[in-house]
Amino acid sequence: MLLSPIQMKVLVVGSGGREHALAWKISQSPLCDEVLCAPGNPGTAEVARNVSVAATDLPGLVALAQSEKVGLVVVGPEGPLCDGLADQLRRVSIPVFGPGSKGANLERSKTDAKDLLERYRIPTAGCKRFDHSGRAKGYLRSLTEWPMVIKADGLAAGKGVYVCDTVEEAQAAVDAIMEERRHGDAGDRILVEDFLTGEEASSFAVTDGETLLILEPIQDHKQVGEGDTGPNTGGMGVYSPVLNVTQRLHRQIEQRVLVPTVHALSREEIKYRGVLFVGLMLTDAGPSVIEYNVRFGDPECQALVRRLKSDLLPILLATATGTLEKIDLPEWDPRFVVGVVAAAAGYPGAYTKGSPISGLEEAAALEGVEIFHGGTRVAGNELVTDGGRVLCVTAMGDDIEQAREAAYAAYDLIQWEGKFCRRDIGTRHAGKAAEGFALDEDPNEIRGEVLGDV
Ligand code: AMP
Ligand code: GLY
Repeated sequence: MLLSPIQMKVLVVGSGGREHALAWKISQSPLCDEVLCAPGNPGTAEVARNVSVAATDLPGLVALAQSEKVGLVVVGPEGPLCDGLADQLRRVSIPVFGPGSKGANLERSKTDAKDLLERYRIPTAGCKRFDHSGRAKGYLRSLTEWPMVIKADGLAAGKGVYVCDTVEEAQAAVDAIMEERRHGDAGDRILVEDFLTGEEASSFAVTDGETLLILEPIQDHKQVGEGDTGPNTGGMGVYSPVLNVTQRLHRQIEQRVLVPTVHALSREEIKYRGVLFVGLMLTDAGPSVIEYNVRFGDPECQALVRRLKSDLLPILLATATGTLEKIDLPEWDPRFVVGVVAAAAGYPGAYTKGSPISGLEEAAALEGVEIFHGGTRVAGNELVTDGGRVLCVTAMGDDIEQAREAAYAAYDLIQWEGKFCRRDIGTRHAGKAAEGFALDEDPNEIRGEVLGDV
């Protein structure tokens, strides 16, 4: 006899492209009765019921989850996690995907993350900690090797890291962070970190504190300009699979970084249930941790859900309830995905808002294309821009060129005043292929793995 699965309501917290992608994927689950999104955006409204409770309104979110009797809350951004949303939900016995505030400290405080890394001998750059600008500058004057990296301790929307080539630049960074307080309280403490050379990569895993499930690698493009030039952004585009994360490298990241991190959290008695998103430098001595994030990346999440063939909801639910060990292995689409961020003029600096958007329906109708809203709003009966990263246009293809062509064809059909993107998303792939990197035969054989009781 076939029993119909028990369906549940799922609440997704947040309002960006990542949350649209999560809501889109969760809404396809046979286990899902309804997706609520708080506060959501015009994109999530197509797959979920938006409820106008802000992601910063913790009591409002808990009350919403209770009154709607949701079976799972999925927290998108780091802010509410750092503020303790997951702890508050767990206190009223609502399963939540996302770490409590102690776990979220891995992202909130670079100093605390560094303490953990050093205490458990997880590879990372050497550093000195300062809470006084004069002492930091004195130390900088004593250095002979440059560049060095100056980091504000707290959350700074990805803008609190300064790679400095000279002592003058480094001192100016210390002043900007600690004296001018460019990042507010986030700059009460700083790290002066050794500069690591190598290529950057990131790794995504989910853990319930005991079991680790490593997800497919996604390559982000952080800088605003083509050829990786100009200031850093939240991410201008993504592609996957990624050639340079070979099976050997994957194992190194797992054994030297991810497993020891889960051990460390458990030794510190931090019950961590959510995403471990690790930024890495691939140095000659192996992968070294640059930073931890405690949530999915944006736009990485948009690419991840496109390549995930399995139902996402059981994975999120098992992570939230501590039963990850029992889930079926996820199945990944071996095809390529490319995601191009369509941004507003001026981004990542001051940008314009309120420009009417057209052509979205024609673009979304193209084969293999799915468009996620990051910064849009409905004004009257018009869709207008309302953020720096307005949309993420994703497309699947049998090879990277096919995925790129489809993504840019869709992007080109969308119009608004001042729209721009990077035209080189995914072109790194060809460079890596020319260097001799080859694609894994079957991603499911390598990464579709659950490490129990790590
Ligand atoms: P984070 O916000 O910590 O990810 O840092 C932002 C960017 O700064 C990274 O993506 C790297 O490009 C660079 N970065 C951070 N730490 C280092 C380091 N120790 N050595 C070299 N580059 C770094
Ligand atoms: N795309 C990088 C991040 O979400 O942090």
